[in-house]
Amino acid sequence: MAKKQWGGRFAGSTDALMERLGESVSFDSRLALWDIRASRAHARMLGVRGIISPEDSRAILRGLDAIEKEVKAGKVAWDVSLEDVHTNIEAMLIARIGNAGKKLHTARSRNDQIATDVRLWLRDQIDDLLRKLRALRQALVALAEQYFHVILPGFTHLQHAQPVLFAHHLMAYHEMFSRDQERMDSCFARVNRMPLGAAALAGTPYPIDRNYVARLLGYPAVTENSIDSVSDRDTLIEFCSAAAITMMHLSRFCEELIIWATPEFQFIELPDAFCTGSSIMPQKKNPDVAELIRGKTGRVYGHLVSLLTLLKGLPLSYNRDLQEDKEPLFDCVETLRSCLRIFTALLPKLNVLQQNMTKAAEQGYTTATDLADYLTAKGVPFRTAHEIVGRIVAYGIKHGKALHEMTLEELQTFSKAITADARTCVTIEHSVRSRAARGGTAPQTVKKAINNAWKQLQKKKKSHAAAKQSVRSR
Ligand code: ARG
Repeated sequence: MAKKQWGGRFAGSTDALMERLGESVSFDSRLALWDIRASRAHARMLGVRGIISPEDSRAILRGLDAIEKEVKAGKVAWDVSLEDVHTNIEAMLIARIGNAGKKLHTARSRNDQIATDVRLWLRDQIDDLLRKLRALRQALVALAEQYFHVILPGFTHLQHAQPVLFAHHLMAYHEMFSRDQERMDSCFARVNRMPLGAAALAGTPYPIDRNYVARLLGYPAVTENSIDSVSDRDTLIEFCSAAAITMMHLSRFCEELIIWATPEFQFIELPDAFCTGSSIMPQKKNPDVAELIRGKTGRVYGHLVSLLTLLKGLPLSYNRDLQEDKEPLFDCVETLRSCLRIFTALLPKLNVLQQNMTKAAEQGYTTATDLADYLTAKGVPFRTAHEIVGRIVAYGIKHGKALHEMTLEELQTFSKAITADARTCVTIEHSVRSRAARGGTAPQTVKKAINNAWKQLQKKKKSHAAAKQSVRSR
């Protein structure tokens, strides 16, 4: 069993159960490469500031390089008796370079170290998630373009409401995912501050240079208060909350796909590659991909609530409870990443059953509002027009006729204001075309939305990754 780095004041050894409860290396070893990066920057600063000798600093850097190679090659055997990724790496360094390795932990604590590592890691994850959100938006806009002229019934209360372009429906999701991207982007800005230098909680008496370390690590700013630096986790909570909202959007879309794929709707067919069958019912083709994403949404919500609960009763500053922040965070990232990937892969493979959508759009009196608007244009007060059309609909239900199937004479028995042009106004094409006010479903309006989306997506925004690259420590 390895010797504990903090063992000096202890006479007895750690109980095996305590060791198992307390270890985090089984999950925080995934931070190893980011931990090494942070240590490298810290060691350089210690050398530059004369806190350790330039030779020791160089020895540490060489040692860290070698350990990094082993981590990358998957050759490291993590030791749970050493608790966490930080102590494991420090022990490896000391084993490799001796005394100089014992100087790396000067002017820092695992408390500011873990806060720094997680932020470094999360920055890279957000970068990747932002790229994935962008890819999803691209897939959505492409689909909207591909099926631009398809009309389906728009729903309220899951009842046929008014006809809309399928493209308009898709672009509604595009709006949601654009806001998700904004949220992630804004969260990144707060993640992007460096806590290193706060040490255990009170700061450090050594003449460190936090800005220098921040520059090496590509942080544009450092955190201000040492107590806050080691004890707050609101940036992680913010991230999980943004992730939960994105999952909620994915889940709503999935719910629609599930409904649309039922024999009752038959608006879409899901690709075989993303469905499974039943072990007993030979006819089944289940929409697993959508169900799983919908199900995983609950788990991401759970992580958000875990983190909020973890923090709510904690006195300042660092408490060991905070070690419990990692598994929920890691799982949020992985779950969101895999859901975004598979959903983006699924979209272009949807078989959109256009004719069924159009047929459905013509059912359920979806153009009743248009007829009321028509009467209003003829001078009938809207409330009266609403009443007249309500009676026409009741008549239609009784005689099994849609509005566009009624003759002019039939319509005129309800109102003298109705003339021949009423029959065009109740077609779904006319209904959609007429809604040309900004944000509506008219083809030219939706076309504009699509063009704007492409413009946004093509904007060569300097990625966070690129910004970091330029100042990354070698
Ligand atoms: N593994 C610990 C965590 O994740 C690192 C910090 C340990 N600090 C301490 N004082 N024991 O929070």
